[in-house]
Amino acid sequence: MKTLIVRQSSILGTVPISGAKNAALPLLALMILAKNEVQIGNVPNVADINTMLKLLKLLGSEFSFVNNNLTINTSQISSTTATYDIVKTMRASILTLAPLLARFGECKVSLPGGCAIGLRPVDLHLKALAKMGADIKIENGYIHAVAKEGLKGCEIVFDKITVTGTENIIMAAVLADGVTKILNAAKEPEVVQLCEVLRDNGVEIAGIGTSSITIRGYGELLEIAPFDVIPDRIEAGTYLCAGAIANSKITVENVVFEHMENIVNKLKEMNFDFEITSNKITILPTTNINPVNIITSEHPGFPTDMQAQFMAVATQADGVSTIEEKLFENRFMHVAELNRLGANIKINAKVATIYGPTKLVGADVMATDLRASSALVLGGIIAEGETRIHRVYHLFRGYENLVEKLNNIGVDVELIDEEAQ
Ligand code: UD1
Repeated sequence: MKTLIVRQSSILGTVPISGAKNAALPLLALMILAKNEVQIGNVPNVADINTMLKLLKLLGSEFSFVNNNLTINTSQISSTTATYDIVKTMRASILTLAPLLARFGECKVSLPGGCAIGLRPVDLHLKALAKMGADIKIENGYIHAVAKEGLKGCEIVFDKITVTGTENIIMAAVLADGVTKILNAAKEPEVVQLCEVLRDNGVEIAGIGTSSITIRGYGELLEIAPFDVIPDRIEAGTYLCAGAIANSKITVENVVFEHMENIVNKLKEMNFDFEITSNKITILPTTNINPVNIITSEHPGFPTDMQAQFMAVATQADGVSTIEEKLFENRFMHVAELNRLGANIKINAKVATIYGPTKLVGADVMATDLRASSALVLGGIIAEGETRIHRVYHLFRGYENLVEKLNNIGVDVELIDEEAQ
């Protein structure tokens, strides 16, 4: 296992932002519905993407993945089972459920268990597919879905907004008979890109980017033209938070500002100014970091995937900040670790109160999930001395070329084998 050592550093510079992992994952699952070999650009080379590619390969797909360009052909898929050993390493494997079921009329996908940040059930995916005519049973820890006569378009009202649930049903609708209307749909930019790729390749789809999406069944597999994955707004937000916590000028490039307004606006509330051009955002140092109140919510609200990073920044604010986590029940694992660095954060149910400013001092800390880990990296940049982040593999699930990108803005960071310590 690897450990990341981050030493206190002065930072400055520009970070090129990679393609969005959470956009690429459903788009890779969508390839199950393609009849041609498809080229996708700007695919981030991160562990979760490689896990999805491994799964698609086990199902029978062929691909080549070089320099962020993926060529993939799923025409020879011969298996329809997503096995436990893959799904347990990445919950987003659930995104293969609807396309496999839609194309083959039957599939088995291991039921994802709970995860570090909460229970995360998939009941809403299953309920919606059942409404579309699938017979769904849970057998030996697997979701066994059958729709031999095909899926049927209908109205799906999600009880709760779910990102991957919305994406699964959008993909199911492509081969369903008739029209599917999804109400209370997720509006994240990653959901929007999935819809746009479908629209650009002939699927009749209305309400893109709204909570009410209507899709007419296409009737056959799609011929999909080459396209690029959108930039990763969470990766970009994380590097802007590096600028914020270190109170330094940091530019993120290859970004879409409209996807990041919620993040930039919160940093503005914390008294940071920005220079914004067509594909770059620069955070500028400030005289005084203001405390902030954050409540996570679905897009366009404040993203839960940025909560941990803002908590790290709030440790340097002049006063008391609060962060309320509304989406997941257990997403404060980073609090204890930030406190090990000297932060003063208290949790009361779903609300964390951060008493700033506090001096951070390097320590051994444990990465618990992807975004929690990035908060520890941010803390490490300003903590006096050396911060050793253990179980750092979480970070490589979602941050491409992390060590290189940090090095390039001046962070003294090093990846070592835990055994070698
Ligand atoms: C996606 C993102 C993840 C992000 C999250 C919320 C991907 C691959 N992952 O995860 O990074 O943190 O959105 O923005 O895109 N829920 C149910 N039943 C269901 C489905 C969801 O109760 O069937 C609940 C979840 O437990 C959670 C809430 O709904 O409390 C939102 O979860 P959801 O939007 O589904 O998250 P993911 O799609 O798993």
